[in-house]
Amino acid sequence: MCGIIGVCSIDRNIAPMISLGLRRLEYRGYDSVGVAIVGEGGIQVWKAKGDVDSFLSRFKVDSIAGRTGLGHTRWATHGPPNDVNAHPHMDCRGKIAVVHNGVLRNFVALKNILELRGHSIVSETDTELIAHLIEDEKHFSSSFFEAFVRAVSRLEGSYAIAVVNEDEPHRVYFARVKSPLIIGVGNGFNAVASDIPAVIEYTRRIIVLDDGELGWITPGEVKVFKLTDEGLMEVSREEILSRVVFIEWGVEAASKHGYPHFMLKEIVEQPDSVRSTYEGNVSDPVLETIASLLASSDNIIVTGAGTSYHAGLTFTYYLANIAGRHSIPIIASEHRILEGAVGRGDVVVAISQSGETFDTLEAVRAFRRRGARVVGVTNVVGSALSREADIAVYMRAGPEIGVAATKTFTSQIMLLTLISIYTARETGLLGGSEVKVEVASLAEAPNIVRESIGRSLEIISDRELGEHRSAYILGRGLGAHVAKEAALKIKEIAYVHAESYPAGESKHGPIALIDEGFPVYFAATTDSPEITGNIMEMAARGARVVVVKPEDYKLPVGVKEAKTVEMPPTRGDIKLDPYALTPYFQILAYKEAVARGYNPDKPRNLAKTVTVE
Ligand code: F6R
Repeated sequence: MCGIIGVCSIDRNIAPMISLGLRRLEYRGYDSVGVAIVGEGGIQVWKAKGDVDSFLSRFKVDSIAGRTGLGHTRWATHGPPNDVNAHPHMDCRGKIAVVHNGVLRNFVALKNILELRGHSIVSETDTELIAHLIEDEKHFSSSFFEAFVRAVSRLEGSYAIAVVNEDEPHRVYFARVKSPLIIGVGNGFNAVASDIPAVIEYTRRIIVLDDGELGWITPGEVKVFKLTDEGLMEVSREEILSRVVFIEWGVEAASKHGYPHFMLKEIVEQPDSVRSTYEGNVSDPVLETIASLLASSDNIIVTGAGTSYHAGLTFTYYLANIAGRHSIPIIASEHRILEGAVGRGDVVVAISQSGETFDTLEAVRAFRRRGARVVGVTNVVGSALSREADIAVYMRAGPEIGVAATKTFTSQIMLLTLISIYTARETGLLGGSEVKVEVASLAEAPNIVRESIGRSLEIISDRELGEHRSAYILGRGLGAHVAKEAALKIKEIAYVHAESYPAGESKHGPIALIDEGFPVYFAATTDSPEITGNIMEMAARGARVVVVKPEDYKLPVGVKEAKTVEMPPTRGDIKLDPYALTPYFQILAYKEAVARGYNPDKPRNLAKTVTVE
């Protein structure tokens, strides 16, 4: 987690670029903020606990003069959020400043060595050690770069770092291993940052750095090297130029565009994002390659974390019910449970919006070591997942800035449903013309999602959950997966304990909690008419029951005691149910969070990209 940015320019003050970058990176962590500017008198650092906006106005950052600098927004790992632990961190003499995203595994060993060598370490962070390590290596090096390389080669764990030093006021050094880092190539300036939105206002020309790459930027130069077992290899100018990609989406996609929160903007964007996923992938031959791989594999393992895992659960459902293929879902951080049983001939489908989630990448690495092939499903071109997978396929949902995943969930489902349909052709369950019909039916999804958003915005009150601190969100069949995602949204942004389990399980224990008025929501999908019994048993015990369902789905028995919320019709097509039901719960969670006074874009203790263990 954490967001870093480093900028150097030939002729302009870079503080406003860093400010904007920090605003765009805030989704990665908001425990503390800091800036270092290299000016006439050396490096000056401003840093404080708290969020980006208060920091920028408190220190009037935009008016600080200087053409080279760093910025950081923190998600605390080593040491609590406070002013001292905020980045940038400096060496003993205040001549080197460092910002870092990642976690150093050999933190204790490095700290002991540096203290023995007389360094005075003032914070509890692992990052500060990097500044002292470079300072130390300078004694054994003929240039700052050599000291930087020597220091970096002693780091273990994950890191994306940007470093400035007083003696080279027009240069930012960088390095990355397992934490994302991009270079924004500008006119008269260059920048490094954790993510593209940090620089998109200023340039759309981007280089995605690979693991193990390091180097420097000046206002007119980008130098990249690779740290290999054989030593340091320079990446040729031609290769660097060939790696520059032009980002199609612009400033608008990365800004709120009039909405009070990114989360609401991204919920409302779903008709477009779902359409973009559909249209961008429907004729992509890579889907056919994936389908034939899935159809011929021994075992299929589906993995991811959080929302991406929930999308993975819907995939296991569609693979079974459309393509007739069994698959095993596994939460990425629990991959060890399966590891021993995975081998050559197996295919892993790893799902990650960011493509940088540590747990998911570790699962991918572990399964690949066992010989499995990996299909990476991600939203971010050039992300670690896209590079480490054997085959990468993109959601094309556009950037998602709100910490809570919304539009990427529906896009993941769309993409995974397309893959399931193409797999059905390979397994022989669908013929060519049937595949066409199934694929065509998905074109309706953007309209359903639009209609569902419109209805939900209108009917959901600000405090749906009242004073309740707990709720059940239940479903059966596919609805059980939709409900799981709904509960996660309510928990993470409204801080209400929303629990989800397959509705049939109520009678095996959870129903004991039901008393008068306990909120129970059902996501009723068209595959599971048995849910009626579960609705009735909850209503009979005084629960406040709300059934959310497609309007043309008639439950076998009318349940008078339950409130029914009619979402757009899906013609009994189970492939379309997630688009009808999901927005209802996203909007419920959003309204509930805002009404309770929480900022849904910055849920406490969370960050958008989880690059730590
Ligand atoms: C929930 C949420 C998280 C992510 C999870 C995986 O709203 O956003 O649960 O889904 O951290 O992230 P990705 O998909 O980037 O791997």
